[in-house]
Amino acid sequence: MKVHTRFAAGRSRSRITTCGPAAIRVGQTMFSNPVLAASGTWEFGLRFRRISNQLGGIITKGITLDPRPGNPPPRICEFPGGILNSVGLENPGLVAFRTKILPRLNTLKCRVIVNIAGFKLGEYPRLVSELDEKKLDGFELNVSCPNVRHGGVAFGQSPTMVERITALVRKQTRKTVIVKLTGNFVDPAETARAAEAAGADGVTVLNTLYGLALDETGRPFLGGVTGGISGPALKPFALFCVERVARAVDIPVIGCGGIASGRDALDFLSAGAKLVQVGTASLVDPSAPLRVWQELRDWLSRNSVKSWEQVVGRTRR
Ligand SMILES: Cc1cc2nc3c(=O)[nH]c(=O)nc-3n(C[C@H](O)[C@H](O)[C@H](O)COP(=O)(O)O)c2cc1C
Repeated sequence: MKVHTRFAAGRSRSRITTCGPAAIRVGQTMFSNPVLAASGTWEFGLRFRRISNQLGGIITKGITLDPRPGNPPPRICEFPGGILNSVGLENPGLVAFRTKILPRLNTLKCRVIVNIAGFKLGEYPRLVSELDEKKLDGFELNVSCPNVRHGGVAFGQSPTMVERITALVRKQTRKTVIVKLTGNFVDPAETARAAEAAGADGVTVLNTLYGLALDETGRPFLGGVTGGISGPALKPFALFCVERVARAVDIPVIGCGGIASGRDALDFLSAGAKLVQVGTASLVDPSAPLRVWQELRDWLSRNSVKSWEQVVGRTRR
């Protein structure tokens, strides 16, 4: 797969003018179409504003309390089925995000969910309290980043930690709270149940999976040594997890992992997801999330299905 290192200017010709046949509610947030841009692959949604505005929503790049330079390069390694990344949560930090980026995000027409990551438990509620007053739709709690030394995936591997973090955030905000789960050495059905018990409004299934790439000398290729697998290679596992998690909880599941076409999105909805996120495909083609929605809509209308909700969970029916 060919990943563009710089995004091309927003050139998508496909325009979707209507909002679609239905709306799905996650917590306090109504999504007018089921396709969202995944965290970290769509920057802050501002560069391709015209596309962002036609999506159900965007999940921002992950924000931490302090600015982070991220991991040393190289940070991306392509392989035939996808990519490995070890970006390491590079971001401008809470203050720069709140003062410089948030006011511009507030002018977008789609739903905006801020992805947050902490290295200690208390950082999650702190980030939420500092951002809560603003015109945001909600938060996605990243307890699943495999590319940081502390917190990240270690939190997401423990149902107890997931429950504690979710409960702390739940106390702090009435806005929509989505917990982004890992599939690394843990049953996501268990962590999803923990998130639900602590008051999460939804769960995102899945973040990247651990991976390793070597150079010809046998040494790790990535500056961060290990990375996270994303893209088409992730899809079968992510789909398996979505189906499993959707049976385990009553809160909405948001499918993520290797979605690059309307057919991929349809598969995730069939497996029980109510919404989907497009990640790595946007790095290859910035119009990918919009094309996914367009293709899904075309499929629905070709098959006389009035609303995408009607296909949700049909795998088990
Ligand atoms: C370059 C890159 C950066 C990412 N940054 C974040 C992040 O900051 N927070 C987060 O929760 N997930 C992050 N992710 C994970 C994606 O949001 C998504 O869960 C994952 O890539 C699987 O979806 P995909 O196969 O469609 O890319 C990142 C992924 C990539 C490839």
